[in-house]
Amino acid sequence: MAEPFKNTPPAPEHQGEMTAANIAAALAGESQASQKYLAFADVADGEGYPNVARLFRAVAYAESTHARNHLSVLGAIGTTEENLKAALGGETFEIDEMYAAYMAVAKLQENKSAQTTIRYADAAEKDHQAIYDAVGKGVDNKQDCGTDAVHVCPICGHTVIGDAPDECPVCGTAGVYFKEF
Ligand SMILES: [Fe+2]
Repeated sequence: MAEPFKNTPPAPEHQGEMTAANIAAALAGESQASQKYLAFADVADGEGYPNVARLFRAVAYAESTHARNHLSVLGAIGTTEENLKAALGGETFEIDEMYAAYMAVAKLQENKSAQTTIRYADAAEKDHQAIYDAVGKGVDNKQDCGTDAVHVCPICGHTVIGDAPDECPVCGTAGVYFKEF
């Protein structure tokens, strides 16, 4: 495929600790802004402002390009083999430490909504952990994964390879609403 871009993302380079921390903070901010604008776009669509929605989606995309450039500078984008290992490590950390600890605090503070959003995320991260583990083993042998559809619950993020279930086992959303990839 022809290279459609004149420029590639900025490459990683040796950097001071403070600059690395700054770029990591900027990455978090840009990632959040992008997600926020996508959610705002859905609200705008729902309220009858399709062009405001379009604007939010465009700016969300712009913010995502900043996030990707920051990731690139931080050296956080590797080969598919490396990326699958990094992804598996990230999911495992979220399950074993991050959400486990956050859930304990949410229970202690009796915040039901936080418990729900953590439970949804934690359950989906377990799906992803299993998928990345299996797919990673294939890619270690230069094997692409299968052509099965991937279905994702639009409410909780439950992720399945193959057909969507009749009903999401995590949050109860009907399978017809799952998004197919
Ligand atoms: Fe769900």
